[in-house]
Amino acid sequence: MPQTTLLALETSCDETGVALLRRTGDDRITVLAEALASQTNIHALTGGVIPEVAAREHVSVLPPLLKQVFTAANITGQDLDAIAVTIGPGLQPALAVGVNAARALAYAWHKPLIPVHHLEGHIYSALLMGEVLFPALALIVSGGHTQLIAMRHHLDYEVMGTTRDDAAGEAFDKVARLLGLPYPGGPALANLARQGDAAAFAFPRPMLTAPHLDFSFSGLKTAVLYAWRAIPAVAQESAKADIAASFQQAVVDTLVGKTKQALVQMPPCVLLLAGGVAANHLLRERLEATAAESGIPLRIAPQALCGDNAVMIGQAGFFAYEGGRRTTESAIDAQARVDIAQ
Ligand code: KG4
Ligand code: ZN
Repeated sequence: MPQTTLLALETSCDETGVALLRRTGDDRITVLAEALASQTNIHALTGGVIPEVAAREHVSVLPPLLKQVFTAANITGQDLDAIAVTIGPGLQPALAVGVNAARALAYAWHKPLIPVHHLEGHIYSALLMGEVLFPALALIVSGGHTQLIAMRHHLDYEVMGTTRDDAAGEAFDKVARLLGLPYPGGPALANLARQGDAAAFAFPRPMLTAPHLDFSFSGLKTAVLYAWRAIPAVAQESAKADIAASFQQAVVDTLVGKTKQALVQMPPCVLLLAGGVAANHLLRERLEATAAESGIPLRIAPQALCGDNAVMIGQAGFFAYEGGRRTTESAIDAQARVDIAQ
């Protein structure tokens, strides 16, 4: 049975991901081995990701992670068909570590490279959760991105809406920081919100009624800042959970509202949800309800693949490879800003 074996690398932000995947003739993708090193503890010290610090950490952990996955899978570089790597978007110094490692390995092992867009990885992590159907509509929500993307075929993307300022995850992180929650703020804020009253504060639902599908979360963040400052210091502690719940509700209402608008504009056969914020329980519940109402199947990336990882880069990598997207070590480059549709 013909099979394809890929090495996949992901270093776009603060997770170093390495994975070995195999696709057999029956289209099944098996993860032979994977490793993920999170830099959360390091960035918690500064309350955010410093690109050069992230890059240095990728440099130090990539070699042991590579050794770990090849040992676990019991294969060598010669068994690979190609190397898939995230080329962007992301932090330039961080991306460059993964791309340069992939370049060196491709050169040493005489293997082609597959450049993968980071959001393709997130999309495929949800798309492959069931029968692959097109057209598909994907809501990608992460620390760096908030996009509604339509797919009519494999590897064919149309950005229907994007954020004009902060990404949804970024807004979660900034509000969490304002409330003094530990880094990374998104999950901490979501946890706190469980104990709060989502109707306690009337925060805006930015651009919800606008005729386009773009998002904007910076005004909402400022509204939370003003509301927080208006609360006397002694009462802030007891208001925290209500602020968290009301903010989360505003973000989720906006994401779900815009997705509903997109479903009308481009009725898909399947709805996809992926990216770090896809781990949010309220967003999952609300999107599940929306999908059920519309009679459209919803595929959510598995919890373990919501955050950045190399498995998703390999999953997208198989389809890119089969679609003929192969390049060489001299032609590949890390690109901090790159559109998924080109
Ligand atoms: O996809 P990801 O790991 O990295 C990027 O590509 O940006 O997403 C990380 C983002 C962070 O902003 C984090 O706070 C957010 O996802 N996040 C959450 C939750 N879990 C992670 N936001 C809200 N609720 C959560 N449960
Ligand atoms: Zn991501």
